[in-house]
Amino acid sequence: MVTSYRSINCGKITQANLGQTVSLAGWVDVRRDLGGLIFIELRDYTGIIQLVSDPNKNQAVHELFSTLKSEYVIQVTGVINNRPSQSQNQGALTGSFEIYPDSATVLNTCQPLPFNLNQSHSIDEALKLKYRYLDIRRPIMKNNLYLRHKITQSIRDCLNQEDFIEVETPILTKATPEGARDFLVPSRLNPGAFYALPQSPQLFKQTLVISGIEKYYQIARCFRDEDLRADRQLEFTQVDIEMAFATEDLVINTTENLLTKAFKEADIELTTPFPQMTYAEAMSKYGSDKPDTRFGLTINDITDLVANFNIEFLKNSINQGHKVKAICVPGFSQVTRTQINEYTNLIKASKASGLAWLAFTSDKVRSSGIDKYLSKTDLDNLKQATNCTTDDLILIVADKETLALTALGRLRLHLANVLNLIDENKHNLLWVIDFPMFEFNDDENRLEAVHHPFTSPNLSDVDLLEHNPAKACARAYDIVYNGVELGGGSIRIHNHELQQKIFSLIGLTNETAKEKFGFLLEALQMGAPPHGGIALGLDRLVMLLAKAKSIRDVIAFPKTQSGACLLTNAPSLVYANQLDEIHIQTKLSPQNAILTQTPS
Ligand code: AMO
Repeated sequence: MVTSYRSINCGKITQANLGQTVSLAGWVDVRRDLGGLIFIELRDYTGIIQLVSDPNKNQAVHELFSTLKSEYVIQVTGVINNRPSQSQNQGALTGSFEIYPDSATVLNTCQPLPFNLNQSHSIDEALKLKYRYLDIRRPIMKNNLYLRHKITQSIRDCLNQEDFIEVETPILTKATPEGARDFLVPSRLNPGAFYALPQSPQLFKQTLVISGIEKYYQIARCFRDEDLRADRQLEFTQVDIEMAFATEDLVINTTENLLTKAFKEADIELTTPFPQMTYAEAMSKYGSDKPDTRFGLTINDITDLVANFNIEFLKNSINQGHKVKAICVPGFSQVTRTQINEYTNLIKASKASGLAWLAFTSDKVRSSGIDKYLSKTDLDNLKQATNCTTDDLILIVADKETLALTALGRLRLHLANVLNLIDENKHNLLWVIDFPMFEFNDDENRLEAVHHPFTSPNLSDVDLLEHNPAKACARAYDIVYNGVELGGGSIRIHNHELQQKIFSLIGLTNETAKEKFGFLLEALQMGAPPHGGIALGLDRLVMLLAKAKSIRDVIAFPKTQSGACLLTNAPSLVYANQLDEIHIQTKLSPQNAILTQTPS
């Protein structure tokens, strides 16, 4: 970027520029004073170039260079030379060149930094977030934001080429039921009424397709007031897509094409089509609806086998209708007591009742006390059922089926990490399909939609809605990358009666359905085409492709675990008159809830 401050960028200097007089502007990355000479590494967004001051060549520049400190902003003018051969740095892009400036100016100074930008060991996260503009000067953060830009650009290019158009949908809107808490915004003009920030543009995108915008997309900001984790933020970005006349194949092909291009930006070649797995298989083999298939340790059902064993707690459990599930950990027969205790705690943290185990070495069997009740044949059958051989460990959980599976699924992931079973060079993309339509919400004693209530049931399952809705499968699909849910979508309901039926099954009365979704129910009766779509979590995608540990590392200004922006100190108290204007009275005592001074 040439400006009146510079004629070329540091990182763009090549052999062709040798001998040219150039002006450069940027930050002092490193300054080294070698007594006679002062070396400055000047940095701009394209790279670094070495500047040298020699008092015998230019006294004024040398005096100025001796005052420079890290992150001063300077401008220099000088001739590009080759460095002496012994000091050339072939590893760096512009490592063969240097400039002895004829003139230099300080454009701005810099206070001592709160942390060293070149330090590779970990910097306190709170400090980084407070001084985010410094953090982003570090190459790792800058590169993450550049990668994010390239991925977003490739997604836009791909969809534009396929005739999609990008349409913006409102940020001040009505609550959308994606399952999380809404952020509410009071309306000044409508006392007592609130907007909600969108959890996703779901209903708008369906409405757009009904409007005849047959191929819609949006890089959409979404807001969900949920507990934060390493891969979740209160506000995040979705690649949101919807298509008229779509079947599963169309959405899946479009997504595979888009992801293949996005992954290329991180130099990863994907092979299409991606494999597909049913929800039932994912749960029964991996104990998760987002299985990490880069390693084995799959779960086996041993209920029928152990029903004949002479082990009381297993018999009791099976009598209560529970299932017995097991995984075999190859070569881990030397497991220690401490490790078993740790795994038992993990299982219990998943609310399953406990962990039984057996470790087989060539001369003996160790166990949680169960081997003494088992015959040689029992042990052989157990080994066969779990694909276990000598030197392996079997871990067993007996509980309600879903509890046993999810507990072992979590233990499976933990074991893979601690035993280093994951091949980091694998890029396993997987579609999970045939999700159930509903799950039972014990607290509210009602069915609720597994995806969202606009998802169509499998056409062959429509009859089940009458007498056994819990058995109906949805036309929904999730895309999973190395065990992380990247996105999800579905073919939607375009039939008014079916939509009403689903609302009533999840416990919405006609009045509530009308109040919440009346506009959709009406639109469905006005020539709504069959349609479907998907949304991909852009932050998660970039996090994984950048190999970042947290979603925060690929978002310019993220929130902390407690939802704070440490740069601006949001959220913050407001003045009493601001609350008055929006008709809000706080329940907290005024000194805790309201800023005391009225702004001038
Ligand atoms: P869903 O709720 O599955 O689907 O969201 C789609 C994807 O968005 C990402 N995501 C998040 N990323 C960061 N922080 C969060 N708090 C967060 N929540 C979700 C995930 C997720 O897979 N309307 C439907 C899509 C559709 O049916 O078309 C929806 O929003 O990567």
